[in-house]
Amino acid sequence: MQRGAITGLWAATFLAGVTTLASAETAAERKARILAPTQDFSEAEQFELYQGGSGTNTERLDANAFSLPSAALSFEQRSDFFVGNGVFDRPWVAAPSSTTGSDGLGPYFNARSCQGCHIKDGRGHPPEEGDSNMVSMLFALSDPSGAPDPVLGHQFQDQAVTGMAAEGKVRVSYETVSFEYPDGTRVELRHPAYKTGADLAPGVALKPRIAPPMIGLGLIEAIPPEDIRAYVDAEDTDGDGISGRPHILEDGTLGRFGWKATAGSILEQSAIAFSNDMGLSTRLIAAAYGDCTEAQGDCRNAFHGDDDGAPEIADDLLDLVTFYSANLAVPARRDPGAPDVLAGKALFYEAGCTSCHVPKYATASDAAPEQRNQLIWPYSDFLLHDMGEGLSDRTPTGDVAASEWRTPPLWGIGLTETVSGHTYFLHDGRARSLEEAILWHDGEARASRDAFAAFTADEREQILQFLGSL
Ligand code: HEC
Ligand code: HEC
Repeated sequence: MQRGAITGLWAATFLAGVTTLASAETAAERKARILAPTQDFSEAEQFELYQGGSGTNTERLDANAFSLPSAALSFEQRSDFFVGNGVFDRPWVAAPSSTTGSDGLGPYFNARSCQGCHIKDGRGHPPEEGDSNMVSMLFALSDPSGAPDPVLGHQFQDQAVTGMAAEGKVRVSYETVSFEYPDGTRVELRHPAYKTGADLAPGVALKPRIAPPMIGLGLIEAIPPEDIRAYVDAEDTDGDGISGRPHILEDGTLGRFGWKATAGSILEQSAIAFSNDMGLSTRLIAAAYGDCTEAQGDCRNAFHGDDDGAPEIADDLLDLVTFYSANLAVPARRDPGAPDVLAGKALFYEAGCTSCHVPKYATASDAAPEQRNQLIWPYSDFLLHDMGEGLSDRTPTGDVAASEWRTPPLWGIGLTETVSGHTYFLHDGRARSLEEAILWHDGEARASRDAFAAFTADEREQILQFLGSL
């Protein structure tokens, strides 16, 4: 940690322009130089090892690799982090209960705790085929106009408190299609189909969402919005077939979180989780009944945990869990200078992956002290892209089209198996490997996918090695 902290501080100083060297370079020029895509693939870039800036976790790259506090936290902040961790892990219970501090669950819910889905602060996974136990994923609901189900609401809750029936169960089955590389190698790609006995309104689709990993979220929040907007090319004026668009929320902020960039902040996403996933109210979302519609009178009229008029989740608990969610450290790269990793990195650039998976950013100088002025490597533009029919979830989510997805950050992706014990990727966990995930890229990412496919088997393996080192 010591080494990470010191090196990261250098990076910070570097970015803030607090340098004693006489130099004619302005701060903006310096930032542009540091953030310019590298041309040199002969060795790792400066600070590349510390992909989460000075907060990078260099201590534990084992099964707990995603669960450490940012190394940039002060002593007092670390204690808030650990209290927040307790809130994140706390199982909520139905009201009324003797433990009023943790009651109010439901009446409908998907999980009893945040970590029930964000297992080990890592990525969730789909159930095995035929199983209906949706641990660590959920289904959003919307009709062809993007509106929620008139009875079941925004989200399908497959659990309910004692004495009430849940909205139903969902079963998954898979079919496979065969993909053939230009060199003749074949790979099976699986895609899911979902069935439920529940009564969905006509045209309403079940839209799968795997819980994403929790690392580095505060750093993502600290990227200046104009630096993300700089990658917007809605009309595809540069003619590369890629036209990322920002998701601007109703209040004018830039959506950054969720598979469809539907949340503008970690606080907002946490409040949504309390409401939709656990049926708990907060100062942001006041309904103690969570995602029950007027048509679900028994749910609305059930016992709730807000009898004193205060939200079921007190403000300090919401803030602590948000602080925790913001400050999980990004793990260090393992061996960014290994020859195969560097070769894979060069190919990743060559195939145009970096058009969407933008390697690096500098966080804002007016962000919270533990996040400001960091050189970070999330590999995302945080914009929405049309990824083609194969990945479409059939109906729009609000104003985000069914085939549009936010480029997910790739940092830490190489530790998925170590942390989560599986290698299921993409928004619905359909991909069983990084290779399958790449081969599903279509739409705006079609040319990039084809470039990957046209590489030799050894070159494709080098790209996978590079991803594995993130
Ligand atoms: C039922 C499973 C489930 C539970 C419980 C849950 N989450 Fe999530 N979480 C998800 C899913 C799925 C997403 C992606 C949402 C989307 O795409 O709209 C997500 C996204 C997030 C994100 C944004 C991450 C990113 O990379 O965009 C944050 C922050 C988050 N959750 C925090 C929490 C907190 C805090 C709690 C507890 C209050 C919680 N979650 C409970 C499933 C869950
Ligand atoms: C047009 C933008 C775009 C390009 C170009 C692109 N990607 Fe992606 N990538 C995305 C989006 C959007 C997703 C999420 C899709 C989903 O979950 O359905 C994604 C998902 C991924 C994932 C899985 C991430 C996860 O968390 O599950 C990997 C791995 C990945 N991309 C690697 C690559 C590689 C390698 C290339 C170059 C060959 C590439 N991408 C090119 C936009 C892009």
